[in-house]
Order: sequence, then C-alpha cells, then structure tokens
Amino acid sequence: MSLWSVVSCGEAQTLEIGEKLGRLLMQPTLVLLQGDLGAGKTVFARGVARGLGVAADTPITSPTFTLMNHYQARLDLYHFDLYRLSDPDELIELGFDDYAYGSGVALIEWPEKLENPETPGLWVNLKRLDDERREIEVFLKGETSKDLSVALQKVFS
Ligand SMILES: Nc1ncnc2c1ncn2[C@@H]1O[C@H](COP(=O)(O)OP(=O)(O)OP(=O)(O)O)[C@@H](O)[C@H]1O
Ligand SMILES: [Mg+2]
Repeated sequence: MSLWSVVSCGEAQTLEIGEKLGRLLMQPTLVLLQGDLGAGKTVFARGVARGLGVAADTPITSPTFTLMNHYQARLDLYHFDLYRLSDPDELIELGFDDYAYGSGVALIEWPEKLENPETPGLWVNLKRLDDERREIEVFLKGETSKDLSVALQKVFS
C-alpha cells in the first residue's frame, strides 16, 4: 500500500494541500477523512472543494446536522459529516451509496461510522501534533485507480 505523509504547519497549508488534491481529481472518488475533533477534516475538505472549483465565496462548513452538503463544481461534490449518525440505516435513507459510488467526489468526515472500516477509497488521516501542526497521511485502500495513484505520487512526493 502506498502511503504519503506530510506535516502541515497551519490551517492555510492544510487548505493548500486539500486544494492540490482537489485539482488532481479527475474521476469519481471516495475520500475518507479521519481524525479527532478539530484535527482539520473540514479545513481539508474546504481545500478539496476549492480545488474542484467550488466558488471562493461559497462557504464550506461541516454538514453536522444535515449530514450531507452538495456543491456543484468540475465534479459534483458531496460532503458528509457522519459524526451524528446514530444508525447506519440512516445512510440508506440519505442515498449514501448513490453519492459515494456515483459520478462525483464524496468526502466523508467520521468514516468510522461506516460499517466497513476497509471501505475502498482515498483515505486521509489527520493527526494533531500541536496547536498549529497536523500530520497528514494519505493512502489508497482497496481497488483504486492507477491514475489516481500516479497523480497522488506527483502531489505528495
Ligand atoms: N495545520 C492545521 N490544519 C488544519 N487546521 C488547523 C491547523 N492548525 C490549526 N488548525 C485549526 O484547527 C481547527 C480544525 O477544525 P476543523 O473544523 O477542520 O476540524 P474537524 O476535524 O473537521 O473537526 P470535527 O470533527 O469537529 O468536524 C480549526 O480551528 C483550524 O484553524
Ligand atoms: Mg468537521
């Protein structure tokens, strides 16, 4: 399994790394954002949204109560925050699979709430090192495209 690791030294840098990733996404992708409360998942998601071309004046905030926000961009973006998910059946009601395995990019905060911890996709793990620094690990799980792997190599190595 390929794994890339970078240290971000502030919110702006995490935004930038997310944006770089967003720019290189050319096909439907499931991105799973792991990390504790305040680790920077939403900041990273905001960067990806910008990289996909969501307008700079569109606020990207955690869909804490709605569970999912949809943005139109180069590829449709579905931003999930599953923190408040109490029952995996709610995912069916949301139509989760249609978004996660559809024609757009799905970003999932709190993927621990999914039943399958081995969900194939692009996993991003954010770890708080101190107030300003975060270790960001990126890796592909399961069957994912070669193109994506090559693109990640360009951005993260
Ligand atoms: N290097 C960094 N990268 C990202 N965020 C940082 C960094 N340094 C400090 N921060 C701060 O950490 C906080 C990250 O908040 P964010 O909402 O992105 O976390 P989250 O992982 O989405 O949390 P939650 O699980 O509550 O949704 C922000 O207040 C941000 O300013
Ligand atoms: Mg968040």
